[in-house]
Amino acid sequence: MIIVLMGPPGAGKGTQAHKLSEELGIPALSTGDMFRSAIKGKTPVGQKVEQYVAQGDLVPDELVTAVVEERITQSDCADGFILDGFPRTVGQAETLDKMLKKYNLSLSSVISLNVDDETIVKRQGGRLLAPQSGRVYHKAFNPPKVEGKCDETGEDLIQRTDDQEEVVRHRLKVYHEQTAPVLHYYEEQGALVEVNGEQPVNEVFKSLVDIVRRSTAAA
Ligand code: AP5
Repeated sequence: MIIVLMGPPGAGKGTQAHKLSEELGIPALSTGDMFRSAIKGKTPVGQKVEQYVAQGDLVPDELVTAVVEERITQSDCADGFILDGFPRTVGQAETLDKMLKKYNLSLSSVISLNVDDETIVKRQGGRLLAPQSGRVYHKAFNPPKVEGKCDETGEDLIQRTDDQEEVVRHRLKVYHEQTAPVLHYYEEQGALVEVNGEQPVNEVFKSLVDIVRRSTAAA
């Protein structure tokens, strides 16, 4: 089962990818989390991508696709995986198609979470992240049980540096210019399903589970 979760920054991809991962028992792979962890660990990849992530620009395609190919060939992906934040350019989508063909795999669902730009700006301002577990919370919309701590690991929650309003607006511009065409790419293949990401978290989740179950039944 290979699921692609798309949508603008702050649409809820990370939130839903974690819930789906628990529901389906397959890993959620976030390229953003991979880059943040590489930056924190000061790895060679981290050093290459740091500036792009801080400014809200896309990391070059070759670098992203190499990281993704390395990750999806690990043993925990044998029964499937959820891609959160990849592909983000038509070039990445084309490379993903070739990659899947090479490993004799195919996409089960491509789901876009649709959320208005102004809702995004409000959401990102209140977002809290557990850097190790990758869980995301929101001060008002999805608060942790204990203030400032991850429900799962108890680790301290942080605010992402690229969640300042100026950077969020730039990330939205990048999304509309470079990632929106990927939606057309999958629409032309008849693979795209759109979900209203403005609904409460659990309503969005129900819609996603429904779509995934239907795509599995049809396969
Ligand atoms: P990445 O980490 O992927 O950021 P993003 O796509 O911009 O998405 P976000 O993580 O900001 O949001 P999300 O959709 O996961 O929403 P979330 O669930 O957190 O990428 C970061 C950077 O890495 C990029 O800018 C780029 O530099 C680089 N990068 C990554 N992938 C790349 C690629 N493929 N190519 C090139 N560069 C790449 O939710 C947001 C907030 O809203 C949370 O507080 C949450 O609690 C709340 N919330 C969620 N759902 C709801 C709801 N239904 N109602 C109310 N609140 C909600």
